[in-house]
Amino acid sequence: MKEQLEAIRAVAKDVLQSAATVQDLDAARVKYLKQMGKLSAEERPVIGQLANEIRADLEDRIAERMENIKAKLLEEKMNAEKIDVTMPSDAKPLGHKHPLSIVLDEVKEIFYGMGFSVASGPEIEWDYYNFEALNIPKNHPARDTQDTFYITENMLLRTQTSPCQIRVMEQQKPPIRVIAPGRVYRSDAVDATHSPIFHQIEGLVVDKGITMADLKGNLESFAKSLYGEDTKIRLRPHHFPFTEPSCEIDVSCFNCGGKGCPMCKGEGWIEILGGGMVHPKVLKNCGVDPDVYSGFAFGIGLERLVMFRFNIDDMRLLYENDVRFLNQF
Ligand code: DAH
Repeated sequence: MKEQLEAIRAVAKDVLQSAATVQDLDAARVKYLKQMGKLSAEERPVIGQLANEIRADLEDRIAERMENIKAKLLEEKMNAEKIDVTMPSDAKPLGHKHPLSIVLDEVKEIFYGMGFSVASGPEIEWDYYNFEALNIPKNHPARDTQDTFYITENMLLRTQTSPCQIRVMEQQKPPIRVIAPGRVYRSDAVDATHSPIFHQIEGLVVDKGITMADLKGNLESFAKSLYGEDTKIRLRPHHFPFTEPSCEIDVSCFNCGGKGCPMCKGEGWIEILGGGMVHPKVLKNCGVDPDVYSGFAFGIGLERLVMFRFNIDDMRLLYENDVRFLNQF
């Protein structure tokens, strides 16, 4: 019996030593410890002590071998996953600015140079800021031209960046000199020149003694910076409820210089913005005394600038994010 046990120990020792994986070792453990357990009831008291000793010995060896195997596995894994930080990396293709951002950043730079800073307002806006405070009461026909996404009766997606004028004047005393670029929303069907989401750049200047001449001078400077020194502007009378007087401003066609071409539809002029002198009622609504202060405001459609600038004939291209289109800028 004793010899039998010693024989098991000897074979087991060899097998354990050569077990190369955790699975091999587990199989050996099951096999030899089972054999050890097969002693009959009569044999147990006689050689129980030796059997226990051999079992403990094998268990120690198994544990030790297991440690070795695991250490080796870990080492192999570490070697396999070693990172050479001096290797050059895979070149990641770099993105670049979207055409809307290219032109917006240029416009911002121009206005920074003229002493303007940038303001902003929420896209989800109160009816009060988007309409009422801008002298567009409920049932005013001007509301019809700005098909509005209402959230509740008094809350909406802003249809213009003009509410930023109100927010700035509520928070800041004159002198004020800001632009407020941002997204605006109108429930328009999508086509080559319409999108329910588009961008405007609002402008507002309020101080003592501001006149229409300041509006003209500032916007002429802007147009020359954007389209070149030879650019001329012209003001056409218009109507906006929040300015008085109001105008639309055209620039001489930067494609033909004013002679008339397909880009300006033969006109020689291209409309780029609306503006005017801030209505006294609007100043009053914001706690600014119209007898002391005056101001001018303007609103630019960013998409129009971008489309003329890059000769893009379909607005949808600006939102589809097709890389074949975007890669061209
Ligand atoms: N908010 C006007 C629009 O969406 C654009 C505009 C016109 C803004 C005249 C102004 C302004 O600040 O003075 O049609």
